[in-house]
Formats: sequence, structure tokens, C-alpha cells
Amino acid sequence: MGQERWTEVDEFITRALVPDDAELSAALRANAEAGLPQHDVSPAQGKLLHLLVRLQGARRILEIGTLGGYSTIWLAKALPPSGRLTSLELDAGRAAIARANIRRAGLEGVVEVRVGPALETLQTLKAEGVPSFDLVFIDADKPNNPRYLEWAVALTHPGSIIIGDNVVRDGAVSELSNADPNVVGVRQFLEDIGRHPRLSATAIQTVGIKGYDGFVLALVLPP
Ligand code: SAH
Ligand code: DHB
Ligand code: MG
Repeated sequence: MGQERWTEVDEFITRALVPDDAELSAALRANAEAGLPQHDVSPAQGKLLHLLVRLQGARRILEIGTLGGYSTIWLAKALPPSGRLTSLELDAGRAAIARANIRRAGLEGVVEVRVGPALETLQTLKAEGVPSFDLVFIDADKPNNPRYLEWAVALTHPGSIIIGDNVVRDGAVSELSNADPNVVGVRQFLEDIGRHPRLSATAIQTVGIKGYDGFVLALVLPP
């Protein structure tokens, strides 16, 4: 069983369970036309994020790593009208493409994309006294994941959920001698989550059109 089979099954799952959405499809087309790397979550994964927002009743979402805003739109579409999503992106060109996709989806009043290194923007958000977030999606530069985790805990409350993408990396996460900074970052991230007294978590391995990877899902506990 390999990639071809995983893709066929993912496409079946998507046809059966994930209705076509004109704005989400338009965002993927715009991203491809702009030459962005295809690092967006898959449709089935986007739907999972969307359902988690609804199950959680989340009103305030923080996303770290916007790219062209594909996951952003999935998350934001699940918010109530009063909901807000803040998404952090290093690259101004990517943020501009994301903002255009978000506007086309009618979500410009819901989503704010902030440009800059996320660690700096997170400091700014704290200095501004931002209210805590109900859900955080971490999907940017993996070597910084342990630091993003500390920020996510600081900017959430008991009952919030923290989700991380790309935590399996084709299985490399379990190769203890693997020195790729992305692998080292996600392994540390998972170990920090597991040891954290205020988090209860698990990870799921995923296969599909994006290959073999995974999500980590953590619930923030009371102090
Ligand atoms: N969440 C998106 C994919 C994000 S890809 C989706 O699923 O649709 C990861 C993004 O993180 C890239 O666009 C990259 O430019 C951004 N990124 C990398 N380093 C960053 C940093 N230090 N701060 C903020 N964003 C960063
Ligand atoms: C990469 C990053 C991602 O966030 C992703 O979902 C897939 C790939 C990457 O940097 O290769
Ligand atoms: Mg990702």
C-alpha cells in the first residue's frame, strides 16, 4: 500500500464527505497560479479543522502559518458571525495572496493576517493584551514549534485546543538519530506537549493526497 492507493482513498473520502466549496477551490487555484508551494492542508484535513472549531464552539482562533489562507478559510468558515481569526505569516507576498482569497470568501471582516516572524507578532499580540484564543493551529516553521507551543499555552485558557500539523513527516519523527531541524523541532514539540502539566494530548498518523504525516491535538487543562 503506497501513495497511489492513499490518494485514491482520500479522493473517495473527499467526494463522499467534503462537499465542493467554490471559495476554497478558488483559493487553491489562486495559490497554484501564484506558484505557492502546495503545503496547504488537504480538503479532508481542512474539514477536520472546520469540524473541530464547531465541536469546540470556538470564537477566537489563532493560526501560525498562513501561506495562501486555505486552512485559514476552512477554520474561519466554522466561526459564528462574531468570531475572529488571527493568522500569522512571515512572507508579505503570501499574506497578500491569502488576503485576496479571504476577501473572495467573504471573510475579510473575520480574518486578520499579520505579516512578520510569528515569534515577534506573538510578542506584539501579548503586548496589545489580546484576549485568549479558544483554538490555536500551529503550521509554520517546524524548528520553532517548541516556542510556538509555549506561546499557544500562554495565549489560551482551560478548554482551549491546540493543533499542530506535520508531526509525522513520512515517519521521520520516530527516527531518534534524525537531525533534520524540522524533525528535531516536531519531536521536541511532541515531547514538550506530553510532559506539559496543563496539556492532555494525542497524535494521529494520516495518509492521503499529502502523503504520510500527522496532526497533534492537545486540550488545555486548568492550572
Ligand atoms: N496553514 C497553511 C499552510 C502553511 S505553510 C495551510 O494549510 O493552508 C507554512 C507557512 O508558514 C508558510 O507560508 C511560511 O512562509 C510560513 N512561515 C515560515 N516561517 C514563519 C515564521 N517564522 N513566522 C510566520 N510564518 C512563517
Ligand atoms: C511543508 C510544510 C507544511 O506545513 C506542510 O503541511 C507540508 C509541507 C514543508 O515545509 O515541506
Ligand atoms: Mg502543514
